[in-house]
Amino acid sequence: MCGRINALLATAVVLASTAVNAQNATGKEPIDYVDPLIGTINGGHVFPGATLPFAGMAKAGPDVIGENQGGFSTDGSPVYGFSHMHDSGTGGASSMGNFPIFAQAGCPNDDLNACNYTSWERATPYVNGTVRGRPGYFTITLESQITVEMTVTNHTALYRFTFPETPTTPNTTLIPLILLELSDLPNTRTDGKIKISSSTGRMTGGGRFSPSFGIGQYQSFFCADFSGAAIKDAGVFANSRATTRAKSLKVISETERAAERPAGGWVQFKKPDNGNQVLVRVGMSFISEARACHNAEHEIPTHDFAGTAKAAATAWRDKFSVISLKPGGVSDVLLRAFWSGVYRSMISPQDYTGENPYWHSGEPYYDSYYCIWDSFRSIHPLITLLDPHSQTLMVRGLLDIYRHEGKLPDCRMSFCKGRFTQGGSNADIVIVDAYLKNITKGIDWNLAYEALVSDAEIEPMNWDVEGRGGLESWKTLGYIPTENLDLLGVGTETRSISRTVEYAYNDFVIATLAKALGHSADYNKYLGRSGNWKNMYKADQTSFINGTDTGFVGFLQPRYMNGTWGFQEPVWCSPLLEFTGCYLNPSGGETYEGPAWLYTFFVPGDMKTLIATLGGPTQFVKRLDYFHDSGMAYIGDEQAFLKVFLYHYAGRPAKSAERAHFYIPSQFNDTLNGIPGNDDSGAMGSFEALTMMGIFPNAGQDVYFITPPFFEEVTIRNGQTGKTATIRNINFDPSGKAIYIQSVTLNGKPYTRNWLQHSFFLEGGTLELTLGATESAWGTRPEDVPPSLGPLGNGTNATAQRRWEMPQIPNLRDAMLVS
Ligand SMILES: *[C@@H]1O[C@H](CO)[C@@H](O)[C@H](O)[C@H]1NC(C)=O
Ligand SMILES: *[C@@H]1O[C@H](CO)[C@@H](O)[C@H](O)[C@H]1NC(C)=O
Ligand SMILES: *[C@@H]1O[C@H](CO)[C@@H](O)[C@H](O)[C@H]1NC(C)=O
Ligand SMILES: *[C@@H]1O[C@H](CO)[C@@H](O)[C@H](O)[C@H]1NC(C)=O
Ligand SMILES: *[C@@H]1O[C@H](CO)[C@@H](O)[C@H](O)[C@H]1NC(C)=O
Ligand SMILES: *[C@@H]1O[C@H](CO)[C@@H](O)[C@H](O)[C@H]1NC(C)=O
Ligand SMILES: *[C@@H]1O[C@H](CO)[C@@H](O)[C@H](O)[C@H]1NC(C)=O
Ligand SMILES: *[C@@H]1O[C@H](CO)[C@@H](O)[C@H](O)[C@H]1NC(C)=O
Ligand SMILES: *[C@@H]1O[C@H](CO)[C@@H](O)[C@H](O)[C@H]1NC(C)=O
Ligand SMILES: *[C@@H]1O[C@H](CO)[C@@H](O)[C@H](O)[C@H]1NC(C)=O
Ligand SMILES: *[C@@H]1O[C@H](CO)[C@@H](O)[C@H](O)[C@H]1NC(C)=O
Repeated sequence: MCGRINALLATAVVLASTAVNAQNATGKEPIDYVDPLIGTINGGHVFPGATLPFAGMAKAGPDVIGENQGGFSTDGSPVYGFSHMHDSGTGGASSMGNFPIFAQAGCPNDDLNACNYTSWERATPYVNGTVRGRPGYFTITLESQITVEMTVTNHTALYRFTFPETPTTPNTTLIPLILLELSDLPNTRTDGKIKISSSTGRMTGGGRFSPSFGIGQYQSFFCADFSGAAIKDAGVFANSRATTRAKSLKVISETERAAERPAGGWVQFKKPDNGNQVLVRVGMSFISEARACHNAEHEIPTHDFAGTAKAAATAWRDKFSVISLKPGGVSDVLLRAFWSGVYRSMISPQDYTGENPYWHSGEPYYDSYYCIWDSFRSIHPLITLLDPHSQTLMVRGLLDIYRHEGKLPDCRMSFCKGRFTQGGSNADIVIVDAYLKNITKGIDWNLAYEALVSDAEIEPMNWDVEGRGGLESWKTLGYIPTENLDLLGVGTETRSISRTVEYAYNDFVIATLAKALGHSADYNKYLGRSGNWKNMYKADQTSFINGTDTGFVGFLQPRYMNGTWGFQEPVWCSPLLEFTGCYLNPSGGETYEGPAWLYTFFVPGDMKTLIATLGGPTQFVKRLDYFHDSGMAYIGDEQAFLKVFLYHYAGRPAKSAERAHFYIPSQFNDTLNGIPGNDDSGAMGSFEALTMMGIFPNAGQDVYFITPPFFEEVTIRNGQTGKTATIRNINFDPSGKAIYIQSVTLNGKPYTRNWLQHSFFLEGGTLELTLGATESAWGTRPEDVPPSLGPLGNGTNATAQRRWEMPQIPNLRDAMLVS
């Protein structure tokens, strides 16, 4: 998902490598290289606040008025609150941010109504240079001179407010007031309630909200406790007025939204005991207020800020400890980009196990998939590599959703089904990728297979939120027709081209699992369907840019039910022509968030046939070069990632390495604006991490493309076997010029394949890449390229030739009537 509009034409800016030698001279450890603020401006939508890895249901951070998908933005927007749950990098609406708290040092003339209550009145700019974060901790100072620090446990946020001795507002003495509003970032509250104890200050309550990119509603509950100062008074507020008269409040509305009716509670304190500090602990739950309080009391019994922050840092240190780097003299830019990328890849999906209000199965429950269309390509393969235990729990959680809701999700957040499914049923790919990489513990593979077959065979009534649409045509015609007639279900009838190639690859991975589980008839059936992309390939289609022929012939094109071709300019919906023409709207095009040019490259399971179709390896490389060099490629959207590495299939692994260095660090770096698109829960970060380690995967297959790591040496310890796998560059050049592999050895023996299998990481070993300044013959022979068509196949199986001819078009009216 990517709502980012600003077109970034791929300029080959290669950062002159600064001569900083980061080779541990400073004694820094990996978490010191994380800058959580990367991607917090200009559409990155990264959540920069305090969180634990995955387990972090609590995600504490500031909320601004303005670009606030992830709560905060470093664009100078004023802060109106601090809230306890967020999502990172979403391309759609802002997410969660429920029950923000806000502090004022006192009310002028000690008049309660002289404090600010509504979000727009209280919003306060932050002081430049005071915003800093590190894993598990975040701090910011507002122009009110109030410094706010935050840290978290699994379900609880802990804030430390430090007040100025002299409040900045005139005629005000230090009598801090902290309020909590019954609202969320996207202003979706329909009902809410709060109760405040005037003796302890404890605030409890909850509310009903809408998910940011989904259907339905969810309920959320909080429990806030204070320490550090004696309670002076407490009460509630509504709109811009506060009172001590009432200690509880309910807001019920079917139509009005929170923004139109601000309401909440407040507590006022006597001057704090020491250091002018007040601590606020906020427990969260999706089940009840009591559980929110239990979570808080259990996880942070003593409001120990330093201890909580330390434990959070340790949790991150543990996650990072499976990777060790020998930087080899590269710049800190690369180290910060790398570790920050790893960090962001581990913010979501979020472990909500034990917090599911809908069913109790004893299985794990993970949430915040934004969306699997975005995350299957690199986030999940990276998690599999670095944290197979979490990936195992996620797969089990996905299957448990299938068990209880009947379909695997694509987008999902806050226990709601996400809209819109952007293309295929891509949980299929996550599951098969995990299967191929020995993610097996406690996973019911028969159930998994059933779930995949359900995606392939049974169209849901609403395929905007799960599964696939157009399955009748898929089965009878062999493609998703443009302007399809679909009597089985309802969904957004666009993207016929991109859905066709994605469904085809989904069927490819189903074939893989069918084979592994011994369902040989299904194997042939789905392998056959995986060739359906050919039915939308128009061999004589040309492509023009501004009236000039690009010279390339043969592109995917719209095709109607009767077999007649439609037309969509192949560059349309790229940065070169109406970039945003193919977003999710009813008039969107036949490709999703990208041009037909891009989708014509998407046959990840049978690149051999695709390359032959497009005129052979030389012509294919020319076409891929044109895609990257013409400005047509936009690397800030996930479907572009694999295009960096497809050169491997044409026997030109050196060109994949060149492209990797073309995009990093020119478009992925350590600045606030350091990612080219929405992070989508860490997708950009996972691209950086895998690319810089030199092992980008072809998700859904047991294939990693070998390119030289951006560091002298990378070692990964496998969480299942405890073995370590090292990739070492010989003749490493930190300036990034000698990036061409001359020869390779695996455990001392010559290795000519340009790809790796996961067994390398499971079994451990050493891969040594000898580098040079020019492209060599290494990895270029046909037998050295990654496999095509099926887990063992190499593109020569006759099934690949199926449906080359125009399919027989059945009499559609009859087909519909009999069904
Ligand atoms: C620096 O060295 C320490 C101790 O050897 C190690 O733990 C740490 O991971 C190294 N830092 C980096 C960035 O590799
Ligand atoms: C947080 O949750 C993770 C599992 O997601 C668990 O391993 C860990 O023990 C929990 N931490 C605490 C303090 O309960
Ligand atoms: C209330 O907001 C106004 C601006 O909207 C600001 O000038 C004032 O200082 C705020 N009052 C307090 C008590 O923070
Ligand atoms: C803070 O920095 C932003 C961006 O550089 C700038 O626009 C703004 O004026 C600065 N604010 C102050 C108070 O210096
Ligand atoms: C501050 O208090 C003084 C004396 O009570 C009063 O005259 C003045 O108007 C107040 N100023 C503001 C800004 O409230
Ligand atoms: C096929 O369908 C398209 C779209 O409805 C229509 O424009 C075209 O004329 C039809 N072709 C034939 C041969 O019927
Ligand atoms: C196409 O032509 C328009 C108008 O001359 C120009 O603004 C645009 O940059 C051109 N686009 C490309 C990709 O050449
Ligand atoms: C960093 O990345 C951003 C986003 O892609 C890009 O706009 C910017 O030019 C890059 N900065 C540097 C110094 O390369
Ligand atoms: C992968 O899993 C299979 C089946 O569980 C097992 O036989 C094999 O030894 C595992 N491979 C490694 C390298 O652990
Ligand atoms: C791979 O291709 C070769 C011919 O190039 C063929 O002999 C061999 O059987 C194929 N292997 C598989 C597993 O399809
Ligand atoms: C090739 O296709 C045939 C028929 O569908 C199938 O039986 C065979 O297993 C396939 N071979 C490979 C190597 O995938």
